[in-house]
Amino acid sequence: MFAPDYPIVGARLLLRPLDAERDSAAVYAYQSRPDVCRYIPYEPRTLDEVRAKLTDTGVSRSTLEREGQVLHLAVVVRETEELVGDVILAWRSEAHRSGELGYVLHPAAQGHGYATEAVGLLLGLAFDGLGLHRVTARIDARNTASAAVLRRAGFRQEAVLLENEWFKGEWTDEIDFAIL
Ligand SMILES: CC(C)(COP(=O)(O)OP(=O)(O)OC[C@H]1O[C@@H](n2cnc3c(N)ncnc32)[C@H](O)[C@@H]1OP(=O)(O)O)[C@@H](O)C(=O)NCCC(=O)NCCS
Repeated sequence: MFAPDYPIVGARLLLRPLDAERDSAAVYAYQSRPDVCRYIPYEPRTLDEVRAKLTDTGVSRSTLEREGQVLHLAVVVRETEELVGDVILAWRSEAHRSGELGYVLHPAAQGHGYATEAVGLLLGLAFDGLGLHRVTARIDARNTASAAVLRRAGFRQEAVLLENEWFKGEWTDEIDFAIL
């Protein structure tokens, strides 16, 4: 069982478990926005959908017992205690010690380096905590803000997959990043 000692504290942020009662409204504030969801797999969510996701341990957990499970954490600004985003770390393979991460910020919290700091904290959990060997991130090729986050966090671009997915009504290119 991988059960980190929360909160995970960074210079300006902390990562902590998400709680449906406490956090649904704050998560809804950005997961309901079309601009935020433009390059991520889900469509803008209703408040009920957000609550359901945060309650479902199949998609949102703060501990990991086996590969296939997904760590899902709140990104909170320490100074204000405001929840400004969420991050995921999916445990892909125990044998290959691999995982994949993702991140979303409220637009009002973008432009401060918070995503980069949150990814750094998540990598600490992935490598030092869970003992992973390789962490990947797969992004829409048009999502230049996301590519910049990954490069700042030390990821390397490994592949460009042309028209790899039929995504929200069109063929889209994907860029695969990884860090060992
Ligand atoms: C992807 C996403 C998280 C990037 O957010 P972001 O705010 O651009 O990234 P960061 O939080 O790392 O901030 C970086 C910006 O803050 C600036 N910045 C200010 N202070 C900083 C600091 N102390 N440290 C680092 N950067 C700082 C950087 O210069 C950069 O600005 P720039 O883009 O004008 O060069 C955001 O666009 C988002 O949530 N998008 C919607 C969801 C999404 O697409 N997620 C990714 C799916 S793969």
